[in-house]
Amino acid sequence: MSFLLYANEISKRVENFIYEVVKGEPKTLYESALHYIKAGGKRIRPLITVLSARICGGSENIAIPGAAAVEILHTFTLVHDDIIDRDELRRGVPTVHKIWGTDMAIISGDLLFAYAYRCLIKSLNYGIPSDRVVKALETLTEAAIIVAEGQALDMLLPTIDSVDSTRYIEMIRKKTASLFASSAVIGAVLAGGDKEVIEKLRESMINAGIAFQIRDDILGLVGDEKILGKPVYSDIREGKMTILVIHTLNKINEDGRKRLRSILGNRNASLHELSEAAEIIKSSGAIEYAENLAEQYANRAIEISRSVVSEDREALDMFREVVEFMVKRNY
Ligand code: IPE
Ligand code: IPE
Ligand code: MG
Ligand code: MG
Repeated sequence: MSFLLYANEISKRVENFIYEVVKGEPKTLYESALHYIKAGGKRIRPLITVLSARICGGSENIAIPGAAAVEILHTFTLVHDDIIDRDELRRGVPTVHKIWGTDMAIISGDLLFAYAYRCLIKSLNYGIPSDRVVKALETLTEAAIIVAEGQALDMLLPTIDSVDSTRYIEMIRKKTASLFASSAVIGAVLAGGDKEVIEKLRESMINAGIAFQIRDDILGLVGDEKILGKPVYSDIREGKMTILVIHTLNKINEDGRKRLRSILGNRNASLHELSEAAEIIKSSGAIEYAENLAEQYANRAIEISRSVVSEDREALDMFREVVEFMVKRNY
């Protein structure tokens, strides 16, 4: 089966589980909390959880609560991320804070954070031994902590004088790759996978997650807003230290650097100025450089996954297809 068809199937099961669990009042709070879930999304993280469980010999059924948990945690980070990044579009719909205001969006995120745990705890109803559930909860907690650290680094990097690619990679490893890695580990742990396999899945997803975020930064510059469902140029407006910007600043002459720096982080920059900055970045060769870097991380992810032994060949093949998609995607 092609992974996209399977992804669709898992996505529906995960959604149904989420709608069963995430219910309550006041209505506005729940509406805002479910806004992004209803709008769609690629649902890659829950797919990784389910595939990892299968790779470790578990059935997809036992992984659904864990898969729902990682998607909900992801959604929580998106709600708060959009406040921080001052973005007004996500998954093709207006952002939560744009519709309901920042205060409600903060609470909405808090609610989702707690529901992620509630979903995972429900694994106990699926006959999974409690020690496995505890391990999965530890993994979710670790992810939540590391993502917060990564988001803080994302915010702090622009205040540092000379940012190099090592710091950028560390930042995206934390803000993005860690949740992909934990999504795999949670599925594997719930299925009772052996330690060595779990470690390989984790390591593979760290690399894939880094590739994924590099791709995200590329799309934030050259992507199509309609296909992407989120704004382009917002990283420039917010002065984010993406690998594209780091590479460009190191490459161009003093005049170009001055011009680029004058636009980066200027919230009043016109669309004309933002496109000018984007042109400076593109003509420095930053896109090719970043594509190449993402490819290297994706290749490493695939290489590691090749050393995984599993009886479920289909799941392992789809796992690799997902990695390919993560680095080649246009949305
Ligand atoms: C967006 O993640 C946040 C990043 C880590 C770049 P996705 O690109 O997986 O977003 P959805 O879930 O498909 O909307
Ligand atoms: C991605 O943040 C990481 C998290 C949301 C934790 P970004 O700010 O780079 O992602 P997009 O482009 O808004 O999805
Ligand atoms: Mg953002
Ligand atoms: Mg952000």
